[in-house]
Amino acid sequence: MMAEQGDRFLSGGKVGSWTAPNITPDAQAGIGDWSEAEIVTYLRTGALHGKAIAAGEMGTAVQNSFSKMQQSDLEAMAHYLKQVPAIGGADRKHAFGSATAYTAVGH
Ligand code: HEM
Repeated sequence: MMAEQGDRFLSGGKVGSWTAPNITPDAQAGIGDWSEAEIVTYLRTGALHGKAIAAGEMGTAVQNSFSKMQQSDLEAMAHYLKQVPAIGGADRKHAFGSATAYTAVGH
C-alpha cells in the first residue's frame, strides 16, 4: 500500500488523509514554473504569493524545520529539485494554493 513507485518519484501521492503534491519540475503538474529562489522562499516562509501556501503538516514542517535551516541548505534542496525528472499528466497534477488553513512564518 505504501510502497514507493520509483517511476513516480516526488510526483505526489496519498498517505492516509495526507496528499503530497507533485514537486517535480513539470511546469503544469509540478513546480517547474517556480524559480529556485521561489522554492527557497516557500520553504523558508511557507508562502509564495499567488502560487502556494503551506497548510497542515507542510506548515508544521516549515515552522519547525525549513524556516530554521541555513539559506545554503535550502538553496541546495531547491537546486536538487530542479534536477529530478519532471513527471506530468492529469493524474499527477496538484492544485497548488488550494489549501484553506494557512501558516506563514515571518521572514
Ligand atoms: C523539499 C521539501 C518539500 C517541498 C519542496 C514541499 C513542497 C510542498 C508544496 C509545494 C505543497 C503544496 C502547497 C500548496 O498546495 O499550496 C506541499 C504540501 C504539503 N506538504 Fe510539503 N514539501 C516538502 C517537504 C515536506 C515534508 C518534510 C512534509 C511532512 C513532514 C510535507 C508535508 C506536506 C503536506 C502534508 C502537504 C499538504 C498540505 C495540505 O493539506 O494542503 N512536505 N509541500
